[in-house]
Amino acid sequence: MCAAYEPFLQEVLIDEPTLQARVRALGAQISSDYADLGELLLICILKGGVIFLSDLTRHINIPHEIDFMAVKSYQKGDRQTSRNVRIERDLEVHLENKHVLIVEDIIDSGLTLDFVMKMLQARKPASIKLCTLLNKASRREIFIPVQYVGFEIEDKYVFGYGLDLDEKFRNMPFIGVAKL
Ligand code: IMP
Ligand code: MG
Repeated sequence: MCAAYEPFLQEVLIDEPTLQARVRALGAQISSDYADLGELLLICILKGGVIFLSDLTRHINIPHEIDFMAVKSYQKGDRQTSRNVRIERDLEVHLENKHVLIVEDIIDSGLTLDFVMKMLQARKPASIKLCTLLNKASRREIFIPVQYVGFEIEDKYVFGYGLDLDEKFRNMPFIGVAKL
């Protein structure tokens, strides 16, 4: 019997051992970079970031909090820069004096994160940085400073490890390229 995702999978882009090794390395890097700072808060952007966050948090060996935020972005007319972003679920914790690290699955145009970062900045955290598992730099429409990147990838639709294909297959343990 073939796996349920098989008809939709063109190829495996990043296999499970490669993903796991990279997430472990990111966790070690973050642990050392934030070791002597104050309170660290990881903010997961739902839903795509949830698998990455749950592995990453277990590879960070300094005390830290986690919280979740859900956003929806949608196009207004055909002008990309007029895209609207709406908060579907806001954070529970306050950000004052906390070192915030946003954990995202993938950065594409960057418009969603630009909105989120400006909104969080206004809540006066001690610092705010960004950690993304995947980066499609060639698709960027607005400059976003990214401190931690798992993998740079080409402009292909990918799914698995938190990323969905029509809301499914987020549980695939590797990143695959979708069949068009
Ligand atoms: P943007 O950076 O505002 O364009 O939006 C990025 C969001 O679009 C990500 O957080 C994903 O939820 C989604 N996205 C972009 N590219 C892909 C992809 O290849 N697979 C699955 N989701 C994607
Ligand atoms: Mg996302």
